[in-house]
Amino acid sequence: MIRTRPFLRFVAVAAPVAALAALVIGVLGSNPGGADPGAALVAHSVCEAQQLKARIAAGELLEVELGKFDTPWPTLAACLSHAAAENPDTPGPVQPIQFSHKHHAGLYQIDCQYCHSGTDRSPSAGVPSVELCMGCHAQFPASYDEFEGIRNLKGHWDRREPIEWIQIYRLPEHVQFRHNRHLQAGVDCQRCHGAIEEMDKVYLTPDTIWWPWLLPSSKPEMGWCIDCHRSEGASQDCYTCHY
Ligand code: HEC
Ligand code: HEC
Ligand code: HEC
Ligand code: HEC
Ligand code: HEC
Repeated sequence: MIRTRPFLRFVAVAAPVAALAALVIGVLGSNPGGADPGAALVAHSVCEAQQLKARIAAGELLEVELGKFDTPWPTLAACLSHAAAENPDTPGPVQPIQFSHKHHAGLYQIDCQYCHSGTDRSPSAGVPSVELCMGCHAQFPASYDEFEGIRNLKGHWDRREPIEWIQIYRLPEHVQFRHNRHLQAGVDCQRCHGAIEEMDKVYLTPDTIWWPWLLPSSKPEMGWCIDCHRSEGASQDCYTCHY
């Protein structure tokens, strides 16, 4: 829980700031190049307000009404990650909730094992419970309900219903794999799963090392396991992985 504290304090500070700022701001410049001078752009949501503010910060001269949406939360990064996570063109399957690793593990640097706890102790990594998500999200301001992903998360919480995440890394039954043995041997998550902290949606990273027939192969296939076992001096005996 220690990891969540600095962030929660940040939200607590942000809430009064948001309340104070509930007035129209930002009548900036005269919009010289704009097609319709005088017509102010109006934000209808926090995410629209964040996008307009980003355009102003980038130097555009805009007349903007942000009104009650001039709150620091949710951040522009949250808006962008949520949009990328629901976009079918982003690599990876569209999940039941628009959850972004780039946002949680990347920007906010929440430790992988805070959510995938026991990866270093047990064979499987597992996915976090709705309860673990709510440990943080129950304390967020109501402005977050603008996100479909957050409404969805709270719906699962109210109904006491687990989230049916689409599984990505799965080995056939006849293969033995244990996370803990690999982590104890010092193999990082990223060596096997790629730069998860840069992904809005998790996808199976292609294996760029093992190209025996010059065909792109996908992790996790046998050749990929064997290739690393060979270079690391780990067992290549059939019975290590198959019994
Ligand atoms: C340790 C605290 C923490 C936990 C645990 C957590 N979140 Fe978040 N979540 C955040 C923060 C921080 C943000 C972004 C706030 C911002 O930038 O405005 C966020 C944003 C989001 C968003 C909107 C942006 C995005 O990334 O898509 C969704 C949806 C979301 N979380 C879902 C979840 C789900 C589902 C879980 C559980 C699997 C979860 N969160 C667990 C802290 C947490
Ligand atoms: C805030 C919680 C949270 C954090 C932090 C987090 N994850 Fe996840 N992870 C999830 C959730 C929820 C899923 C299932 C949904 C999905 O695939 O995005 C998941 C899925 C995955 C999957 C795919 C699982 C499958 O079905 O094959 C991998 C791999 C993964 N995470 C690795 C990581 C790594 C590596 C890190 C650290 C860089 C990390 N995760 C940090 C919550 C988290
Ligand atoms: C040596 C390669 C390797 C390393 C290192 C590794 N994983 Fe995995 N991971 C896999 C494989 C292979 C699977 C599929 C396992 C299966 O189907 O039995 C998997 C599955 C998963 C899953 C899906 C759920 C599950 O339990 O099967 C998650 C989540 C996950 N890994 C997260 C992580 C995290 C977080 C780390 C680092 C703390 C990590 N992995 C380190 C290879 C690895
Ligand atoms: C990035 C390198 C790497 C990859 C990829 C990798 N391994 Fe390993 N594996 C290791 C290392 C290092 C050890 C030695 C651990 C030790 O000495 O305890 C090991 C040990 C093992 C063991 C023996 C330990 C035990 O569980 O009793 C099994 C089984 C195993 N790996 C299965 C797999 C399978 C199956 C895959 C592919 C899905 C795989 N590994 C992919 C590095 C890797
Ligand atoms: C380091 C782990 C590892 C070792 C060692 C290993 N395998 Fe595998 N093997 C795998 C994995 C992972 C798969 C699943 C690959 C997939 O589904 O693409 C697999 C799949 C197979 C399959 C099924 C192929 C198919 O198309 O379904 C056979 C047969 C097989 N292995 C035989 C062997 C033999 C024989 C040896 C010893 C020479 C061996 N394996 C050593 C990890 C290993």
